[in-house]
Amino acid sequence: MAQDAGIDTPAAAGGEGVRRRDFINIAAVSAAGIGGVSLVYPLISQMAPSADVLAESSTEVDISAIQPGQAVKRIFRKQPVFIRNLTPAEIEEAKKVDVTTLRDPETLEQRTKEGHENWLITMGVCTHLGCVPLGAGEGEVKGEFHGYFCPCHGSAYDTAARIRKGPAPKNLQVPPYEFTSDTVVKIG
Ligand code: FES
Repeated sequence: MAQDAGIDTPAAAGGEGVRRRDFINIAAVSAAGIGGVSLVYPLISQMAPSADVLAESSTEVDISAIQPGQAVKRIFRKQPVFIRNLTPAEIEEAKKVDVTTLRDPETLEQRTKEGHENWLITMGVCTHLGCVPLGAGEGEVKGEFHGYFCPCHGSAYDTAARIRKGPAPKNLQVPPYEFTSDTVVKIG
């Protein structure tokens, strides 16, 4: 029989031949699909953050040695972050400000954690053009509002790191953070 001999008869070309071509097409598409998946998987796994990046995405800081009135600078996601232990006088100064007069109205309570309002944690990046303000380092000028002062164009921040004077449009940004204990803060 012609079919048994593997020769395409007109009937076979119109029937089984079509099915064969369909099969070949499906097989080709499936192979392409599998190839696609095997190509996409390494791409996706490459796009997933590496362990290094994940480690960098948060930072833990021991704050036990930071005295009232002191601040430290740390690096968080490749940018400076300021951790400041406010004195009672600095807290008072921040609280007595009428927030409705502020360019970026926020209370100290909104910028700190309940029960830890002496800990002011902000990015050390001026919201004007991104310079690092002074005021966190030992002996650095804090500006006329006693918080931080940006020497690039003269923005002055208060003791809650809120913008009070100069071209910066916003308060120093408060990053996401949490207290993992009374003496350790996890930023990020
Ligand atoms: S970058 Fe800080 S005032 Fe311009």
